[in-house]
Amino acid sequence: DYYTEPYRPQFHFSPEEMWMNDPNGLVYHKGVYHLFYQYYPDDIVWGPMHWGHAISTDLAHWKHKPIALYLDELGFIFSGSAVVDENNTSGFGSDGNPALGAIFTYHDMKGEEAGRDDFQTQGIAYSLDNGDTWTKFKGNPVLENEGIRDFRDPKVMRYEPLQSWVMTLVAGDHAKFYTSKNLKDWELTGEFGKDQGAHGGVWECPDLFQLQVEGTDEKKWVLLISINPGAPNGGSGTQYFIGDFDGKTFTSDQKENRWIDWGTDNYAGVTYNNAPNDERIFIGWMSNWAYARDTPTEKWRSAMTVPRKLSLRKIGDTYSLINYPVDGLENLREQGIRKTIRLEAGEKDSLAFDHFNRAEVQFTTAAKDFRLVFKNDKEQQLVLTLDSEKSVFYLDRTRSGKTDFQENFGDTVQEMPIDHLPQEAFEVRILLDYSSVEVFINKGQYVMTAQVFPNEHYILLDIENTSEAILEFNNFEINKVKGIW
Ligand code: FRU
Repeated sequence: DYYTEPYRPQFHFSPEEMWMNDPNGLVYHKGVYHLFYQYYPDDIVWGPMHWGHAISTDLAHWKHKPIALYLDELGFIFSGSAVVDENNTSGFGSDGNPALGAIFTYHDMKGEEAGRDDFQTQGIAYSLDNGDTWTKFKGNPVLENEGIRDFRDPKVMRYEPLQSWVMTLVAGDHAKFYTSKNLKDWELTGEFGKDQGAHGGVWECPDLFQLQVEGTDEKKWVLLISINPGAPNGGSGTQYFIGDFDGKTFTSDQKENRWIDWGTDNYAGVTYNNAPNDERIFIGWMSNWAYARDTPTEKWRSAMTVPRKLSLRKIGDTYSLINYPVDGLENLREQGIRKTIRLEAGEKDSLAFDHFNRAEVQFTTAAKDFRLVFKNDKEQQLVLTLDSEKSVFYLDRTRSGKTDFQENFGDTVQEMPIDHLPQEAFEVRILLDYSSVEVFINKGQYVMTAQVFPNEHYILLDIENTSEAILEFNNFEINKVKGIW
C-alpha cells in the first residue's frame, strides 16, 4: 500500500495531500471516469479554490492528475459540473473530437470583501484532450449575477427533447433552471423550492436527473440539494425531491423532507454525466462543514464516499431514492471470515479480526433488534444499533476514538428512522475504512455515512442479540478490503 499515514483511507478516494471538499465535474468520457474536486493545494484547510483532478476506469482505483482549473482574475473556482459536448454546440471542439466542457462558479473574493452581493458568477472552460488540459472561455462569465449572495454550483445536463443544455443552479433558498443551445448563452426558465423541502441552511450543489423506477417502465425526475446547515443529524447534509421536469422547471410530488444519507458525513454529492448504460453514479464528500477543518489528519484532509449507484424504488405508495455501492467494489474483497450467526435471546458473540480499518461486513437477516460493536484495545468503540420498537437505526461514534477535536463531532448519537424496513430478510452491508464507516441497509434503502478516528484499529466485533427471540445472520462475511492505490 502506498499511503501509510494515520487515518489515510485505503479504498476511498483522498487527495495525495492538502485540502479537498466537494466532488466536481463528474463525467465519463472515452472509457474514463473523471473526478474533479474542490481543492486548495497550499494548506489542509479551505482556501482559494481550484479543481483537483483524478481519473478511474473502474470506479474503484484512482489515479491522481495535475490540477485542472486554477483560479484567475474572475475569482476562485467553486463547484460545478462537466459535460461531453458531443455535437460541438459550443464550437470548442470539432466533429471528430468533441470537447469536454466544465461549468463552474467563479467566487470573486474582492467583490465579497467589498460588501457586494454579486460576487458569484458562472464560467466555463473546455478540454480537447479528455481532461488533461483546460482552456477558459474568453467570454467568461457566461452567467452574471443580479445581486444574489449565494448563486452557485451549476449542474449542466443534456436535455434531448429540447435539443438543449439545462443548468440547475442554487440561489440561497431555491434552485433556478436555465437553458442554452451552446453552453455560452443562458436563459432562465424556472425556479423551485422556496416553500418546499428543508431550509435550515443555504442550498448548495444541486443535481437533476431522470431515473427509472425499479421493475417498471416508469420514469421520475430527481433533484438533489445539499444544505448547510440543517441536516437531520446536524451540520450539512443532502436532501432529495422526486417529481417531474418539463424542460423548464421542476415540480415535486412529495410532502415530507427526504435525505439521501442519514449519517453526518456525506455532503455535496452529485452524479456522473454520460455514465455507461444510463447508470446514475453518485459520489459525495465524506465530511461535514460543522467540523471539516478540524479532523485529525495531517498531510491531507477528507475523502470521498465510495461511488454509489442510484435507483428509485416504490415502497408503499412513495418513491425512495436508493444508493448502494457500484458493482465491482466487491472485487476488492480478500478472503476473510464466513459463518452463520445464531444467538439466543440476550446472547452475544465476539469475533476477532485484524483488519477493521479496511473491511466489509455483510449479512442478511430478518432480525430487527441487534447491536454491532466494533472495538479496539483502548476501549474505543463504534456502535451500530437496530431498534424495532423505536423504529430507528443508531450510529454511535461518541466513544469511537478521537472526538474532542471539535465539539459537534462526538456529542450525539446519530439516528435514522427505518419505518419502511421490510418484514422479510434484508441485507446489511458495512464498509469500514481507516477513518470512515458506511452502512447500507436493504441494498441502499437506508444509508448512513460517518467519519471515525479511532486511536488504534478496531480489532473486535461484538454481535449482541438485543431481542427476546433467536437472532440469525445468514451469509455472514467479514472481508479485508484491498487498498486501491
Ligand atoms: C459546498 C460548497 C459549494 C461551493 C464550494 C466552495 O460544500 O460550499 O456551495 O461551491 O463548497 O468550496
